[in-house]
Amino acid sequence: MNILNNLFVTTLPLVPKSIVRRFANKYIAGDSLEDAVNVTKQLNDRGIMTTIDVLGEGVFSRQDAVNAKNECLEVLEAIDKNRLNANHSLKPTSLGLGIDYEFCLQNLTEIVKKANKLGQFVRIDMEDSPYTTRTLNLYEDVYKKYQNCGVVIQSYMRRSMDDVAELAKMKTNFRLCKGIYIEPVEIAYKGKQEVRDNYLKLLRLMFENNCYVGIATHDDYLIEGAYKMIAGLNKQKHEYEFQMLLGVRDKLRNKIVKDGHRMRIYVPFGVHWYKYSIRRFKENPNMAGYAFKALFTGGR
Ligand code: FDA
Repeated sequence: MNILNNLFVTTLPLVPKSIVRRFANKYIAGDSLEDAVNVTKQLNDRGIMTTIDVLGEGVFSRQDAVNAKNECLEVLEAIDKNRLNANHSLKPTSLGLGIDYEFCLQNLTEIVKKANKLGQFVRIDMEDSPYTTRTLNLYEDVYKKYQNCGVVIQSYMRRSMDDVAELAKMKTNFRLCKGIYIEPVEIAYKGKQEVRDNYLKLLRLMFENNCYVGIATHDDYLIEGAYKMIAGLNKQKHEYEFQMLLGVRDKLRNKIVKDGHRMRIYVPFGVHWYKYSIRRFKENPNMAGYAFKALFTGGR
């Protein structure tokens, strides 16, 4: 079945969007901000925090970037109005990083400034390698004025140890993940274990520099490694949190919460759900297998 699943993943673009959507529902809160607010309320009731993300990336028109910025501002207002235990994640290319650095910086600054006024935090997601340096520069430029923001480090990137060593000097609030994009071997580790090993090295460096870390993973090996490190370094609950994606490994998520750790769920919403869902399917060919069956059974 694995071969079939993998085959299906490579032919996903041919699958009718209606079928992809049926399976994507697991990973997205819905089309509207109200859907994200409702999912957040449910998770908050269970003692779980969220980070709300408006789906969309790779915007190449200034008007689209301004629209995306306005949507981000609406997220902040909704978090405030509904008194949610949530923050906001955003992708720099949706704010125009691919168009012009200064324009994107202006959009991002407006968002972080508003979040600052409302007592909220903004996470700047990390995209593929053409944007890594510019994303870190954006973070550093915004941070000079407003400290209620943080970045993401990808453990598959060979440069990440140097980046963390530099960013730790500013007591950066990190999210640490493996990385989701396909990168060339010259700049990225490719082996499963080397990505894991680098993840734990980076986590140690962050902790030793007393930086706050969002430990973003569903990998048992890394979660176990993080547990050991937290105990070994005597880290307190307010110095880190675990982070997971909506709809992924809920049982493990509940166990981590039960063990007494802080947990934040990434809650994406919006009409641009397709690209995000395809990425999630690629991570989990079993899921794609179900969709494959649905293709022939009409999803029944
Ligand atoms: P891995 O992929 O090995 O998964 C471990 C296990 O979890 C799998 O064996 C499987 O059982 C389960 N699993 C994983 N994905 C699943 C899925 N979709 N459905 C069902 N089960 C699944 N990346 C990036 O490049 N930039 C970013 O800004 C972010 N931001 C981000 C935020 C948060 C909160 C998370 C959790 C992740 C990200 N990522 C990201 C994605 C990250 O880089 C990575 O691709 C995924 O988390 C998968 O890696 P794992 O560490 O979970 O391991």
